[in-house]
Amino acid sequence: MSDTEQTLSIIKPDAVERNLEEPIKELFIKNSFKIVKQKKVQLDKKDAELFYKVHETKPFYNELCTYLSSGPILVMILEKTNAVSENRRLMGSTDPKKAEEGTIRKKYGLSIDKNSVHGSDSQENAQTEINFFFKN
Ligand code: CMP
Repeated sequence: MSDTEQTLSIIKPDAVERNLEEPIKELFIKNSFKIVKQKKVQLDKKDAELFYKVHETKPFYNELCTYLSSGPILVMILEKTNAVSENRRLMGSTDPKKAEEGTIRKKYGLSIDKNSVHGSDSQENAQTEINFFFKN
């Protein structure tokens, strides 16, 4: 039985602005992820609030949603065995200062807000997040 999974990845505004889409996609491919679907979008603040609803009680929620809607983002469905955990490993710690060598956030992240990439944190959230961007 195959345990191939899908997860949602976002290349955030700070990385799109610095033309890091291709280098980050290359890292996914080099790490055996298949990019099943991708699209570039810009969310409005209301959409960002919906997307990050799980964080609505956090003190950084408003800033987080303002930031995610501040510019274009590249959203992708990534596929691999154990895609959710493998993507989180490749991204590294949320705070780039704490991220491990070789991870995307270590390499490209600027700060805990501008940390270049988002990845689903569970299989359940992956499905919700994939539906959010790719329903239809
Ligand atoms: P992300 O994986 O997209 O999920 C939620 C985001 O909130 C996270 O990346 C960070 O960019 C952002 N964030 C801002 N401040 C914090 C914080 N103090 N702790 C965790 N995440 C934070």
